[in-house]
Amino acid sequence: MNDNIPVFEVLPQHIGFIMDGNGRWAKMRGLERSEGHKAGAKTFRRIVEYCADVGIKHVTFYAFSTENWSRPEKEVKALMKLFKEYLLEADEREKENDIRQSRIRFIGEREGLPKDLLRLIEKAEKVSNKYSKITVNVALNYGGRAELTHAVKEIAKKVKNGEMSVDDISEDVIGDYIYTAGQPDPDIIVRPSGEYRLSNFLTWQSAYSEFWFSDILWPDFTEKDVNDILFDYQKRNRRFGGV
Ligand code: FPP
Repeated sequence: MNDNIPVFEVLPQHIGFIMDGNGRWAKMRGLERSEGHKAGAKTFRRIVEYCADVGIKHVTFYAFSTENWSRPEKEVKALMKLFKEYLLEADEREKENDIRQSRIRFIGEREGLPKDLLRLIEKAEKVSNKYSKITVNVALNYGGRAELTHAVKEIAKKVKNGEMSVDDISEDVIGDYIYTAGQPDPDIIVRPSGEYRLSNFLTWQSAYSEFWFSDILWPDFTEKDVNDILFDYQKRNRRFGGV
């Protein structure tokens, strides 16, 4: 447990993180891109633990998009290895009964993922289901438009079977068919590395999200940056379309 946590007046319930800048971080050090992802994976673990300690209930990390398959095979393989390592580690932590154990959810298309990774994902989701301190969504093979397409198809099937009528379709119903169903929408989405776009991340869920951008590269992201985000967040006046 971290002893240096400031007092925050309000906390976001859900933070989304776009883990960007690993490649540049590696290049600056003359390292392979995969080394940047390895460093990024370490940052991911630290930030998950800190968010849990602070009391954030939901976090979503963009780990691999539906477009990332077009990266060099070596890089894709290195990323898949990192995901497997994290899941195997989650299994170990489960045995140690670590207090910060998180409820793990993978959001994204399952089709196309390596079979061994898929088995680990299913196990981690099942085993960690009993935890409620923090829900960690890892967006893997994820695309916001693909998620919406999936939801539309599922709803269309229900309408076709006569289980739902067209008039039953509402924003709440669509919310039930997206991957984060049952979780609050992200209050704030964080994108480091000097880019100012969403890149197909949480397309439906981000309708009213606040944004936080910075030039820090993801492997350099620290607990202090989380504190800065939280102090900034508590100053923002969220009106949700009202006055
Ligand atoms: C984008 O940076 C980053 C990714 C496509 C991969 C993010 C994945 C991780 C940090 C590993 C997370 C690990 C677990 C266990 C969830 P980039 O490569 O596009 O960076 P660049 O823009 O500097 O090239």
